[in-house]
Amino acid sequence: MALSHNLNLASQGTSLKALFSGYLIVVAVGYLMAVVQIQLTHGLADGEYGLSIDDIVYSYYGNRTNSMLENKLHGSMKPMATDEERDAIINWIHQGATEEAYEEQGIQDIFESKCIVCHNADGGGIPDYSEFQNIKDRALVDTGVTISALARVSHIHLFGIAFIFMFVGLIFSLAAGVPKPLKVVAISTPYVFLLVDIASWWLTKQNPNFAWLVIIAGGSMALSFAFMWIVSMYEMWILPRRGTDTRDALLDQ
Ligand code: HEC
Repeated sequence: MALSHNLNLASQGTSLKALFSGYLIVVAVGYLMAVVQIQLTHGLADGEYGLSIDDIVYSYYGNRTNSMLENKLHGSMKPMATDEERDAIINWIHQGATEEAYEEQGIQDIFESKCIVCHNADGGGIPDYSEFQNIKDRALVDTGVTISALARVSHIHLFGIAFIFMFVGLIFSLAAGVPKPLKVVAISTPYVFLLVDIASWWLTKQNPNFAWLVIIAGGSMALSFAFMWIVSMYEMWILPRRGTDTRDALLDQ
């Protein structure tokens, strides 16, 4: 049993614990940033703070009674223009969003002074509004995220998150105090729900009833992350080194 005795988190040397803990802390901060980012982009999709089912439906399926442009002007793009300017743009959308009216009603001036600072040719992935067609496309009914954006975010998530859970799971697999079946479940849950999560985005894009699956999958991943994180940290820094207390002496028999 000498091997299994050494292969546990509590009895690792301080430098390995520092390496593992540094990684776990940075990844946890990254996770919190992801939550903030989700709140700021998807959370505002329905114009109100906080992530709701409506936000998810609007983000993936779209709010098909309104245009993407109008929805964004009620949502995350609200602070980018004054109320009058937003009203002017929304009026223009409701009137059919023609190019003549765009030039004549001063809509072009609003876009040039308020939007093109960010929405330009090198805007880093966001649409370029110096091209009228790009505005026109978004003045039509909102069908949510585009397929190409969904494919891009999907592959980034699959690669990136699988990588995170590889290392978090590897560290956690050295925890000695967790029964094996629970350990296997905790380690595989994030992978299963990562696939379910990505699948649920594509399903919600087709049918808004799948939005709840996005929440369940995201929540399950977060739960298993938190569980593995807390257990790993606890075993490294709070649990005494194995072999130095009576509990471990008993376990080793
Ligand atoms: C400070 C930079 C900035 C300014 C100014 C800005 N935007 Fe945006 N816009 C963004 C970013 C970043 C995104 C992507 C994140 C999001 O959707 O919230 C975005 C996304 C959008 C989208 C969704 C585009 C799509 O196809 O996915 C619309 C529509 C939009 N903005 C409209 C506007 C309008 C109209 C204005 C001017 C009144 C404006 N934005 C001003 C940064 C900006």
